[in-house]
Amino acid sequence: KKLGILLSGRGSNFLAIADSIAEERLSGAEIAVVVSNLADAPGIAAARERSFAAAVIESRGRKRAEHDAEIVATLQHHEVDLVCLAGYMRLLSPEFVRAFPQRILNIHPSLLPAFPGLHAQRQAIEYGVSYSGCTVHFVDEELDHGVIIVQRTVPVLPGDDERTLSARILEQEHLAYPEAIARVLSGNYEVKGRRYIAR
Ligand code: GRF
Repeated sequence: KKLGILLSGRGSNFLAIADSIAEERLSGAEIAVVVSNLADAPGIAAARERSFAAAVIESRGRKRAEHDAEIVATLQHHEVDLVCLAGYMRLLSPEFVRAFPQRILNIHPSLLPAFPGLHAQRQAIEYGVSYSGCTVHFVDEELDHGVIIVQRTVPVLPGDDERTLSARILEQEHLAYPEAIARVLSGNYEVKGRRYIAR
């Protein structure tokens, strides 16, 4: 199956997915295209360096619907089966979500539904929770809201700041994303209401 990766920044989750395919920890998947909405995202440079098809589709100053339509066309051109948001810092339009029903995943650095939105790790520290983690979920039309596929937890330690907690969570993100992709590609699950049920 063909993956389309969308990113806006560093791209470490993209690279974790790419590595797990290259090392055959994730089978039956290939990365068909990597798309960034920012020309200077380190993740898109990394994609080019590794010779993946890479596209910059600038979002700045453009209407969301129009920008999203261009991304959808690019993904369809590359015959993408599954869209993986990996640090893609834009909300998707309803038209985008409907173009890939139950076929868009996102990763978020908290145990949803706690701490949606920006700076989830900082929110967790400031709230004073003892555990946090990451969530891979299907994307629906609400921010950080769709059906949860995989969560991994980490402790929040007394000396933690945003940086140390983010690093601890990121390690788990790099395991959770390939695992979630494998689950979805296997097709061995059903979704009942908000619940993902493995078969
Ligand atoms: C990750 O923490 C991810 O959970 C969040 O944005 C960050 C992206 O990191 N959505 P990277 O670009 O994959 O390194």
